[in-house]
Amino acid sequence: MDQEINQRIVGATPAGARDRESSARAIREMFTSIAPRYDLLNHVLSFNIDRLWWWRTARRFDAILKRPEARVLDLCCGTGDMAFALRRRASSATPQILGADFSHAMLQRAAAKTEKGSGSTLRWIEADALRLPFPDGYFNLVTSAFGFRNLADYDAGLREIARVLAPGGECGILDFGEPGGLLGQCYRVYFKKVLPAVGTVISGVRGPYAYLPASVERFPSPDEMIGRMRQAGFRETTWTPYTFGIAGLYRGVKESA
Ligand SMILES: C[S@@+](CC[C@H](N)C(=O)[O-])C[C@H]1O[C@@H](n2cnc3c(N)ncnc32)[C@H](O)[C@@H]1O
Repeated sequence: MDQEINQRIVGATPAGARDRESSARAIREMFTSIAPRYDLLNHVLSFNIDRLWWWRTARRFDAILKRPEARVLDLCCGTGDMAFALRRRASSATPQILGADFSHAMLQRAAAKTEKGSGSTLRWIEADALRLPFPDGYFNLVTSAFGFRNLADYDAGLREIARVLAPGGECGILDFGEPGGLLGQCYRVYFKKVLPAVGTVISGVRGPYAYLPASVERFPSPDEMIGRMRQAGFRETTWTPYTFGIAGLYRGVKESA
C-alpha cells in the first residue's frame, strides 16, 4: 500500500470556515440545526443500511466488549446509535460505555433514546473530540461513526484518540468511502445530487446535506488514512470496506509504550 501522506489535508472545512476554531463552530452549529430530523434522515438516506454498519463495527470489537472491566468511548456519538450497538454486544457485566459529542442537541436525543430503551450503563458527555476531558490511557476502545470526518484536524483527532487509549487499546473509525467502478458512478449521482436534495427538504436546512458529499470527497483515501493512523501511534492498522466501499471501518491498535 502506498501510505504517502497528503500534508494539505488537515480537517473538515465547512463553508465559511477560516481556521480550526471557526470550522469546529460551523460543524457544531450545522449538526445542532439538523438534530431534530437527524435519525429520520439517516435511516431514509441510507435505506437503513446504517444499522448494519453500526452492528458490523460493534461486532468487530466483541473481544473487548465482552471484558467486564472494559472502558469504551464512542466519539462524535450524535444521537447515540453507534454507542447503542456497542452496548448491545457488550457483556451483561456492563463495561463502561460513554458517548461524547460537542452538540448538546444531539446528546439530548441520545439521552432521550436511552431512557426509553435500555436504561443501561450508557453515559453521555458534552466534549470536543480534539480536547477530551479524560486522562491518558483511560479507555480500552474508542470508536467513532461518521463523526471523525468532521473534525477540524484529523491528525490532532488521531493523536487525541491515541492519548486516551491504554497501550494495546483499539480504535475503530467508521466513515463513508468512495466506491469505484460502475457502482461508484451510480452511487456518486445519488450521493451528490439526490441525497443533498432530499436531505434539504426533510431537514428544512440548506447546507448540511451539500456539505456531506464534499466532506467525503475531501477525506483522506484509505491508504492515506492508514498512514496517518500509523504516524499517530497505531499498529495493525486495517481498512475494511462495507457495502462495496460506500462505508468502511478503520481499525488500529495503540502501540505499547
Ligand atoms: C454525522 S454525525 C454522526 C453521529 C453518530 N455517530 C452516528 O453514527 O449517527 C457527526 C457527529 O459528530 C459530532 N462532532 C463533529 N465534530 C466534533 C468534535 N470536534 N467533537 C465532538 N463531536 C463532534 C457532531 O456534533 C455530530 O453529532
